[in-house]
Amino acid sequence: MKSDKIIYSVLLFAIVITGVTSFYYALKALQNNPSMEKAVSKESSGLHFVLIPQETDNDYWRLVEKGARKAEKEQHVTLEYNGPKKSSVSSHIEWIEKAIASKVDGIITQGLQDEAFRPVINKAIAKGIPVVTIDTDAPSSNRSAYVGTDNYQAGFLAGKALIKDTGGKANVGIITGSFDTRNMQLRVQGFKDALQQSSNVHILDIRESHITRIQAAEKTEQMIQKHPEIDAFFGTSALDCFGIVSSLQQRGRIDGTYIIAFDTLPETLDLIREGIVDATVEQTPYQMGYESVNLIKSITQGNKVSKIHHTDTSIIRKQNLEPIKVKKEIMP
Ligand code: BGC
Repeated sequence: MKSDKIIYSVLLFAIVITGVTSFYYALKALQNNPSMEKAVSKESSGLHFVLIPQETDNDYWRLVEKGARKAEKEQHVTLEYNGPKKSSVSSHIEWIEKAIASKVDGIITQGLQDEAFRPVINKAIAKGIPVVTIDTDAPSSNRSAYVGTDNYQAGFLAGKALIKDTGGKANVGIITGSFDTRNMQLRVQGFKDALQQSSNVHILDIRESHITRIQAAEKTEQMIQKHPEIDAFFGTSALDCFGIVSSLQQRGRIDGTYIIAFDTLPETLDLIREGIVDATVEQTPYQMGYESVNLIKSITQGNKVSKIHHTDTSIIRKQNLEPIKVKKEIMP
């Protein structure tokens, strides 16, 4: 009998200890887990947005994400950054489908190909999910708004810069991120139109890099083999100039070749500082990310917003690198 009593007491003690410990750890987990914190935070709007870029594993898109994260905090919303690790239109569209199925409160994504993206964007809108296109617009869809560069204008600026810097005489090779995406098509079109102003600038070849530096290098190599007279390059997406530079360096042709790039990734700015890349078209990915979240929140609150929000674009050369530094400092 006495031994039964002892067993009961030990059991009771064990139950009490287990209960107290579980309660302690549950409380601790709640304090340490930011998403749970968000769920109980009084300030949280409860809104859940998703930002789906064409390639999550890309320095340009990380800058967009950074800007979006700043707005996420300020607006007390939850932002998910997800999408294809490497660019693929079909997988990109699947990610948008998934976001629709999980009933997010808003989708921020590119309208890379007007035709291919229109159905899925319209599907989201029909289900009451606002869609803000970013970086690349899909104007024929019912998207709620567009935030990003005026891509035609950006290409036009690049063409004008090339004419100015080469004295209006050049044989040009273009490396473009893709033949099929609207942002790249508009940049190339703007560039070509600007070149109409000069009769001595000729485009000899154009090839696609699929936004990878390796393919940009391969295509540059093929071009200079086929057209040794090429003395200027235009890279129309963020990583293209790295491929152009490495290929020209390998062939000992970096001196005397004019290069105009796209974007202001730190590596690109270093190449400009070193005098290897002559100019680049500045976009403002951080600003795009920031504005897109502010805008989509405003839309979910029923505010009327204008459809087009063009972000800043300009040409950066060695002599005007400093303002860029200043702009970077105001970024977190
Ligand atoms: C473009 C993005 C693209 C990136 C690729 C940028 O110039 O605006 O659409 O994803 O380059 O590196």
